[in-house]
Amino acid sequence: MKLLQYEKSLQPLLSALPVCHGWGRGATLYHYNGYWLQLVFIAGQRLLPEQYAPRPTDILLASSPKCGTTWLKALAFAALCRLLDRNPHDLVPFIELQYLASPGKLESLQDPRLLATHLPPSLLPAAVTSTCRIIYVYRDPKDVFVSHWQFGKSTCGPLWDHAFEYWRESRRSPERVLFLRYEDMAEDAGGSLRKIAEFMGRGFSPEEESAGAVEALAELCSFENLSKQEVNKTGNFRVSDQVEFRGLKNSSFFRKGKVGDSANYLSPEMARRLDEFMQEKLHAADLAG
Ligand code: A3P
Repeated sequence: MKLLQYEKSLQPLLSALPVCHGWGRGATLYHYNGYWLQLVFIAGQRLLPEQYAPRPTDILLASSPKCGTTWLKALAFAALCRLLDRNPHDLVPFIELQYLASPGKLESLQDPRLLATHLPPSLLPAAVTSTCRIIYVYRDPKDVFVSHWQFGKSTCGPLWDHAFEYWRESRRSPERVLFLRYEDMAEDAGGSLRKIAEFMGRGFSPEEESAGAVEALAELCSFENLSKQEVNKTGNFRVSDQVEFRGLKNSSFFRKGKVGDSANYLSPEMARRLDEFMQEKLHAADLAG
């Protein structure tokens, strides 16, 4: 990975940015254009405008970390390809992590390309939001906080600005941006799968419906099924085919997969304060807890 060389060239920029530590692994987060990002995300974000040529057939899965990215990747991949036998992150690459790790990889993929990003719209090239279709997953911030807490300050946050930007895009152009909630996916995984498939132009046929394909694929993508797969118990998260990401284990993407688990960790007072805070930040959108 050419990150070290690239890091050197970014030194003048980085030294002017506020910093803090996040992700529990000592990784530095930089406050860059309103978001707390790791160096790889900043480097990748700066390469995107010149390297990534969005195609109208591209489908971009967008999320803040810990909101259900892994699950959304599984569901969308299953909906698009109707098969699933690998870790979802190996199947759906993050665009901002590709150009240092595997230049040319995205260009070699066949249409329709299923891609992902943790970056908000304001940090993506303008052509992305005007060209691609985007599926965003949002989650109750209390559960995200608990899911995330062992990682420290949340990378790609703040969550409220991230979510608000995608929510606004989905209101402006619902045909281009599908806004999903983790809680709705948990309540009705099959219904969410149908929505995702239709949005991607791959709706289920009556034959597939009557054969039980929707239920079978939803079950395939369930927490219970994915978390027990060998690749997810023992494998490491990879940025691309060859490059692993700081020894992050695939199993770290599968903790409990429950809605409302934050109630087991936050006192009612902490939950109320977080709800009030989100209400203040997101009152214009219907997203507060
Ligand atoms: P918990 O920590 O609450 O268990 P991300 O993929 O964006 O990093 O999000 C991780 C969260 O999604 C974790 O939440 C993880 O357990 C949950 N998750 C992963 N796969 C899932 C699945 N197939 N169904 C439901 N939740 C899933």
